[in-house]
Amino acid sequence: MCGIVGYIGHRQAYPVIIKGLERLEYRGYDSAGVALFDEGEISLSKTKGKVADLKRISEASSNIQGMCGIGHTRWATHGIPDDLNAHPHFSNSGNLVIVHNGIIENYDAIKKALIGRGYTFHSETDTEVLINLIEDVKKNEQVKLGKAVQIALQQVVGAYAIAVFDKSKPDEIIVAKLGSPLAIGVGEEEFFIASDASPFIEYTNNAIYLEDEQMAIVRLGRDIKVRQIENDALVTPYVQELEMSLEQIEKGGYDHFMLKEIHEQPEVIKDTYRGRMIVNEGIVKMASIDDHLEKFLNANRIIIVACGTSWHAGLVAEYIFEDLARVPVEVEYASEFRYRNPIITSKDVVIAISQSGETADTLAAIKLAKENGAFVYGVCNVVGSSIARETNSGAYTHAGPEIGVASTKAFTTQITVLALIALKLASEKGTVSKSELHQKLAELESMPRKIEEALKVDDHVKYISSIYKDAANFLYLGRGYNFPVALEGALKLKEISYIHAEGYPAAEMKHGPIALIDEQMPVVVIATKKGHYEKIISNIQEIKSRSGKIIAIVTEGDEDVRALADHVIEVPETSEALSPLVNTIPLQLLSYHIAVMRGCNVDQPRNLAKSVTVE
Ligand code: F6R
Repeated sequence: MCGIVGYIGHRQAYPVIIKGLERLEYRGYDSAGVALFDEGEISLSKTKGKVADLKRISEASSNIQGMCGIGHTRWATHGIPDDLNAHPHFSNSGNLVIVHNGIIENYDAIKKALIGRGYTFHSETDTEVLINLIEDVKKNEQVKLGKAVQIALQQVVGAYAIAVFDKSKPDEIIVAKLGSPLAIGVGEEEFFIASDASPFIEYTNNAIYLEDEQMAIVRLGRDIKVRQIENDALVTPYVQELEMSLEQIEKGGYDHFMLKEIHEQPEVIKDTYRGRMIVNEGIVKMASIDDHLEKFLNANRIIIVACGTSWHAGLVAEYIFEDLARVPVEVEYASEFRYRNPIITSKDVVIAISQSGETADTLAAIKLAKENGAFVYGVCNVVGSSIARETNSGAYTHAGPEIGVASTKAFTTQITVLALIALKLASEKGTVSKSELHQKLAELESMPRKIEEALKVDDHVKYISSIYKDAANFLYLGRGYNFPVALEGALKLKEISYIHAEGYPAAEMKHGPIALIDEQMPVVVIATKKGHYEKIISNIQEIKSRSGKIIAIVTEGDEDVRALADHVIEVPETSEALSPLVNTIPLQLLSYHIAVMRGCNVDQPRNLAKSVTVE
């Protein structure tokens, strides 16, 4: 986590860095800082709090001039979020300054050794240890900064994306990466450094994404030199042309990114399936599957690895794959999978799902699966992300940048891609007929329109939110395809409104959670027609007879559930397999409105970060 930004060129660096940090706040927002080089000195401002706090402080009291600088927005790992632990960090001499995203796992041993050599530390961070290690190497080995960084990094264990500069050599910034993302924007006589491309998109479309264990010397007036940290080999950098636009990463008139992203779902789902299906002919076109078809068709099973919301999308996919393509599927938390000595063989296909493409546990699970000979397919949103590059093949979701920390459009686009993959395999295996395939694709094509319809419940959901906003607990129930939707609804509410919520398979309620139900307990039940409708009605009866407050998501025109529930939220009719796409919408809106009414920071909920690059 944490976001880093750097600039060197012909503009004032401060506005570029501040704007960039604002765009990267999704990565962490408990403290922020900036270091600028001007007239032989480095001016540093940093503070606990958000980038807005940094701005207020630095503009009131610091020199914010300079055409070279680095900045940081933090998600604390080592040391509490306070002014001292905020980045950037100086070396003891005050000549070197660093920003860092990641964790240096062996920092304690290095710190003790440095203390033994007379170094002192002002923060509790692993980052201050790293910059002093670099200084120590530079001094003892009598080498330039780039070399010192390279030698020092060979001594550290952990993950990093760093940007470092030396006040005696202010025409260059040294960057390096292992496990945390780092992009370099290449402009005209200027360079930008950032955790993703959003900070520099208005200045240049050309970006270099460093690979793990690479470093680069970004020097004014020179080509960028990229090297392997381990063996010093020069690497020719691949300059990628970006497609992201500035409008895509701004709020576009909505109060919050989350609301904008909820409303973008009809459009981005079209982007997800565009070019991937010919509805009339019942064809799914996915070269990333075609190129490895044998792997998929001969697979003994599919293992899906993911975290959080992406894991919920994986659970929905389990139902779709098993139902349509008749292939066994296991869905695993990446964090559990990677550490439990799983049985993986070359006959397994592993699908890794990740919006950010940077989640450390998912990345580690992929590496483990590859080491054991499995074929790994990625479903990512962020183009060029580590997971997209690490996997053998994959498909992008094309949801566009998701800035709100709570995932919304990433979830529905992941389900869309996964449904396409399932249909592709089903058609290749012959487990669905041509006419069924045609009908399913037609339904997928109609999803954007149905989601538009579902979004019309917004005012009604707002009204329901006003009634339950002060509840202490919520229960979410669903069955079959909508059990993962219940989990997702509960997660959304928890993370942005801080209300405790649990998702359960509705039938499991009687095995424990039913004890929680009383007149104070709002229970959100996904009770749309198809699937397990009759059974869900029985579950609703059970809640009603214990005085629980029932908020039911129902199919338009349903009168039976209406007669039982305290509130109904109507959504358009869909097949069971695609119903999660529509049924999720009111749950996203419910959590959004409750969080707003409770005065919570919807886009940047406490303790969270968008991109979890630590395990
Ligand atoms: C919840 C949320 C998280 C992420 C999880 C995985 O709204 O956003 O639970 O889904 O951290 O992130 P990715 O998909 O980037 O791997």
